[in-house]
Amino acid sequence: MKDVVLRSAREEDLEELYLIERVCFPKHYFSKYFLRILLEYPSSLAFVAVVSDRTVGFVVGVIEEEGEGRIYTLDVLPDFRRRGIGGMLLEKLEEEFAKRGVVKCRLEVMEGNVPALQLYSKKGYRQVGVIKGYYGDRNGLVMEKALKLPGSL
Ligand SMILES: CC(C)(COP(=O)(O)OP(=O)(O)OC[C@H]1O[C@@H](n2cnc3c(N)ncnc32)[C@H](O)[C@@H]1OP(=O)(O)O)[C@@H](O)C(=O)NCCC(=O)NCCS
Repeated sequence: MKDVVLRSAREEDLEELYLIERVCFPKHYFSKYFLRILLEYPSSLAFVAVVSDRTVGFVVGVIEEEGEGRIYTLDVLPDFRRRGIGGMLLEKLEEEFAKRGVVKCRLEVMEGNVPALQLYSKKGYRQVGVIKGYYGDRNGLVMEKALKLPGSL
């Protein structure tokens, strides 16, 4: 999409990102407190998608101790979906992970979340496990993707 700008998230984005998180995950949203911790975490990477000065989506990932990238949340406001923004945010995060030497990216997604599952499988993620009751009454599916380091074929 031509008019989408991706940039790093800033501290002052917190309020808006929390509102987007509430819209995108009406039942299982991260608290503002947790989002703040995520954004401030030393090895976290967060990017927002901006359309005409409006923040319409974001992604947050963390490089965990084992050097693995973990995606914590990926959100696009309903009116801006199916325009490639979720995919752009995901690719941006993967690219930045890879620049920092991350070779594997992991995430959890709720079973039955068709848009997310379709997006992730289209982008090369494969299911590697199930966490029973991860979302209370729903299971979490663990998905992984091997990342290519910059410069490798
Ligand atoms: C999942 C989410 C981030 C996708 O964002 P998006 O900007 O619509 O994604 P994209 O436009 O990049 O979609 C890329 C591909 O994903 C798949 N996809 C996305 N939404 C889909 C849907 N509703 N149904 C089926 N496939 C879908 C399609 O293959 C799509 O490609 P296409 O449009 O060429 O067919 C968005 O739906 C969302 O914010 N959902 C609520 C929060 C959430 O579940 N986040 C993921 C949690 S792990």
